[in-house]
Amino acid sequence: MIGRRSCFSRICHSILTRARFVQMAATIDTSPPIFRLTPGSSFDPSVFTRSIPVLAARIPAAKTTTLTKQNPLKRFVLDIPRIRSVVSDPEDPNKRLVLLRVPHKYDLPQEAQEFLDAETEKVFLHYVELDYSYWTADDILQAILPEDLGDGSPSSFTITGHLAHFNLREEYLPYKHIIGKIVLDKNKGLRTVVNKLDNIDNEFRFFKMEVLAGEPDFVVEAHESGCRFKFDFSQVYWNSRLHSEHERLVTMFNPSDVIADVFAGVGPFVVPAAKKGCAVFGNDLNPNSAKYMTQNAEENKVGNRVRVSCQDGRQFIKQVVYEAWHNPFPALVGPVKSHKQAERDDRKRRNHKLPDPSPPRRRIDHFVMNLPGTALEFLDAFRGSFASIRDEVGFGEVYNVMPMIHCHCFTRELERLRAETDIRERAENALGHGLEDVKYHFVRKVAPNKDMYCLSFRLPSSIT
Ligand SMILES: C[S@@+](CC[C@H](N)C(=O)[O-])C[C@H]1O[C@@H](n2cnc3c(N)ncnc32)[C@H](O)[C@@H]1O
Repeated sequence: MIGRRSCFSRICHSILTRARFVQMAATIDTSPPIFRLTPGSSFDPSVFTRSIPVLAARIPAAKTTTLTKQNPLKRFVLDIPRIRSVVSDPEDPNKRLVLLRVPHKYDLPQEAQEFLDAETEKVFLHYVELDYSYWTADDILQAILPEDLGDGSPSSFTITGHLAHFNLREEYLPYKHIIGKIVLDKNKGLRTVVNKLDNIDNEFRFFKMEVLAGEPDFVVEAHESGCRFKFDFSQVYWNSRLHSEHERLVTMFNPSDVIADVFAGVGPFVVPAAKKGCAVFGNDLNPNSAKYMTQNAEENKVGNRVRVSCQDGRQFIKQVVYEAWHNPFPALVGPVKSHKQAERDDRKRRNHKLPDPSPPRRRIDHFVMNLPGTALEFLDAFRGSFASIRDEVGFGEVYNVMPMIHCHCFTRELERLRAETDIRERAENALGHGLEDVKYHFVRKVAPNKDMYCLSFRLPSSIT
């Protein structure tokens, strides 16, 4: 009877110990210490330390797997993200220390204690030291920013090349340089952290920025669709969030197509399309965009298939049809050639006075118009834009298929059908013509009450 009762109490004790362990193990506190800032206070990364007491079991190196992978100890092995559970023994290179999730042997259930006694040379208290380098930027920001700032973390930032840019809400501004420093420290590859100083409402769609931390170097290198883009972020427009929209349209183009990008920026449609084989007219009113677009085309070795201009979009639309007709791009023959190969073949053909292998490309197949705030209003420029070439020989054969127009726009109508009606009405008003063959593509939500779409339609032949 006594024996049965003590057995029962041992079982109860064991259950309780396990329950206590489970609770303890679940609550290993790895959060950084809290040091709330007030406006004007400084930031000292060295204060961020935490010592976590754990049990270290010394074992011969060869026994590591036995101890860590087998019952009854495997579930007690230390499990803290980015912290090794087996470390070298500073006293003996042939030994290892296996770290366990409890500070004392007696916090473990009986069978685990017995296993330790049998399999290890020694167990002792050990401290895992965490410091500033351990925590993420978000962990540190949550520990220092005043609690009344929402969840304690500033709005997210976007990374382009070596530059991170914030759009900090007013309440974070007193801490902006500290936020910048922490983000810089915590993101390898970053060299500059900036805050946008205004909304993108200027004509060229770039924003003024203030350096929060790092070098004042705004010339970044970004990668998209297998192409490399270099540009000065403080002088031109770039938005990495449009990556899939750029790819979506370029995928629609055939390698032999001629593309006219009315608001081309530094070339995120132009360069990948040219890389595919397309002949591309890229236009942007911002001279810096035009400069970087030219450089990006050259650096991606598609300069021979890209013609850059710097004019107002309306003027460009009116001229490019004429330009493509009278100064056409050479035909795309065979597989897409490298820049050098194309030049060599061209030279050879001219030296031997050989005829062009196939007719040059003089019909524009697609217009791209990504200036969502006002692009729809530019559609009026298509009225009469074909007049100058309409009487040319072969016009009807070349333009038997009219170009597709891909026009980006915003709408405040959030319901799909109403959005489509709104976009269509504005497009038809500007064009002065009804639309056929229309597609609407939802691009992204730009604000709670504002969506971005791409309207695609075939230009009516009667518009010429
Ligand atoms: C929204 S950005 C698009 C850039 C690029 N196509 C892209 O998808 O990232 C619009 C571009 O249009 C240019 N722009 C603004 N007004 C213009 C105009 N009237 N004519 C031609 N380009 C203009 C700006 O400089 C800017 O580069």
